[in-house]
Amino acid sequence: MKKLISLFLILTLALIVGGCSANTSTASADMAATRASGEDDKWENVQVEFDAEDYYARLERCVRQIREKTDFVPDIALVLGSGLGDYADTVKVVAEIPYSEIDGFPVSTVAGHDGTLIFCEIEGKKAVIMNGRVHYYEGYDIHEVVLPLRVIHMLGAETVVLTNAVGAINADYSVGDFVTNVDYISSFVPSPLVGENIDKLGDRFVDMTNAYDEELISIVEGVAKENNIALHKGVMLQVTGPQYESPTEIKMFRSLGADTVGMSTVVETIAARHMGMRVCCISCITNMAAGMQEKISHEEVQNSSNDSSKNFSTLVSGLLSKMK
Ligand code: HPA
Repeated sequence: MKKLISLFLILTLALIVGGCSANTSTASADMAATRASGEDDKWENVQVEFDAEDYYARLERCVRQIREKTDFVPDIALVLGSGLGDYADTVKVVAEIPYSEIDGFPVSTVAGHDGTLIFCEIEGKKAVIMNGRVHYYEGYDIHEVVLPLRVIHMLGAETVVLTNAVGAINADYSVGDFVTNVDYISSFVPSPLVGENIDKLGDRFVDMTNAYDEELISIVEGVAKENNIALHKGVMLQVTGPQYESPTEIKMFRSLGADTVGMSTVVETIAARHMGMRVCCISCITNMAAGMQEKISHEEVQNSSNDSSKNFSTLVSGLLSKMK
């Protein structure tokens, strides 16, 4: 009996080992075949799920679905951040499409980030408002985060005005002030340009020397001055979130040259510059960064940006009325 059991165990083991080596040899044969197939297949060896061809087809599918509902061609994209959604109530709406009605469009999971594309006229300019955005911290891949902006560019928009809520790292800034970015630090978030380049959107390597358009910056400065709104020109650092930073992280970010910290807009800036769009970013300071005030809460961030909504509207409308 013992002999029989041992024989059974040996046979089972032999089958398992045989199976494994057969799998291994199939896998290595697959890889060899992929390598042998040449240039076109080189991305199959890259260990990321991003498939540039599928992704671009999805962009085109989103554009087609939107085009079934409206033929409006926007010149400007306006991306509204947390608590700033009320601005959409003040514009002349031509068409509205909820993100959930566009198959393949990412939908936000965060309170205060309703997802609607609003095709409209603002100060005589043809614009599309992205009312609500998705964030990397929600678990979306970084390519998903920038997908809506890419679709909007394919609809015609050549300029994007990004808005968000940020914490102030610069001690000279105060809650309720605004900042227009003159530069950014993206080194703490993944690049949306990682993976096979989509040549139809832009070049593989993109210069970021003047990521934020100088003309738009000076228009925002002028509008702020005319309306007595406190506005700074600063450097924004994007983090992944969703947790707010530790006080020591904030000290590090300050030593790196950051004036503000937030969980969005820098990756959108990168995707927009990849497509050659003009970019302007206006941030509302909702809190002093960690270690500079007692505590930070999402409610405080939302309430502060709601309190600043009138000045925010003035800045955005002023910018749109003056931009060429
Ligand atoms: N840190 C990161 N993101 C933010 C903050 C902050 O302090 N305030 C608003 N968004």
